[in-house]
Amino acid sequence: MDKLGKLARRRPKTAGERSRRNGQAPGRRATDRAISYEQLRDLSAALQTIREEERAHIARELHDDLGQLLATLRVDLSLLQQPAASPQATRQMRSMDKLLQRAITSLRRIATNLRPHALDEGGLYYALQTLRQEFAQRHGIACQLDAHEHELILDDRYSTAAFRIVQESLTNIARHAHASRVHISVRRRDGRLHLQIEDNGRGISPDDLNKAHSFGLLGMRERVWALDGEIDIQGGAAGGDGNGGGTRITVELPLPP
Ligand SMILES: Nc1ncnc2c1ncn2[C@@H]1O[C@H](COP(=O)(O)OP(=O)(O)OP(=O)(O)O)[C@@H](O)[C@H]1O
Ligand SMILES: [Mg+2]
Repeated sequence: MDKLGKLARRRPKTAGERSRRNGQAPGRRATDRAISYEQLRDLSAALQTIREEERAHIARELHDDLGQLLATLRVDLSLLQQPAASPQATRQMRSMDKLLQRAITSLRRIATNLRPHALDEGGLYYALQTLRQEFAQRHGIACQLDAHEHELILDDRYSTAAFRIVQESLTNIARHAHASRVHISVRRRDGRLHLQIEDNGRGISPDDLNKAHSFGLLGMRERVWALDGEIDIQGGAAGGDGNGGGTRITVELPLPP
């Protein structure tokens, strides 16, 4: 049983528990449990959507509001700089300008982490390219992306899900895999979106899939199921050169016509 199943079992005073206390038939209890499990999945999907919308909202506010303010301050500061100013005043203004530049860079990073601008501006293809590039640079792990721009013009729900799945996979690879190579493929075929993320690291084990306080893979599965898709996570299947033979995550999402 997966974690949401366990959660459903732990929920206090569910309809199932009440019916057991009232001496209802086991068939009825099983139906109640199935209903409450379905409700939990709906709740999880709704929470994901709300979280995504809030992240986009905060990112926009940061960029449009605070970002504009900082940019205006920089312009004002440059207007204050006069040739006749004392050396101390000139030094102080340069240092203020550097601080402002750092604040603008940090703000951009924070806003992009919340919701990549590229996802709304350029679409999934550019967002994935940026993700791939940053991952390879930051972690020194070779990373290939097999994708075509014209195939990845998708409804926001699908591009956000695909982006978050790849993002969580790459975070996991950097944190856990000890890999030297990653291959990502995001293709559209026969009305379905096919995603695959493969690494050549230590390989995920069956126990890893059921860790009590790990929510990355669980969140991935919930995103896929919310879109009626399928997900398969395999360790030792990617033919990698690490001892564990790598990890391969395969996702298929049916796309609306
Ligand atoms: N690519 C990978 N290679 C090897 N092990 C992996 C890989 N991806 C995940 N794992 C293992 O699976 C476990 C579960 O991953 P999951 O993303 O659910 O949780 P997490 O990364 O530990 O925590 P978080 O909730 O912050 O994501 C990890 O703790 C790790 O042991
Ligand atoms: Mg994780």
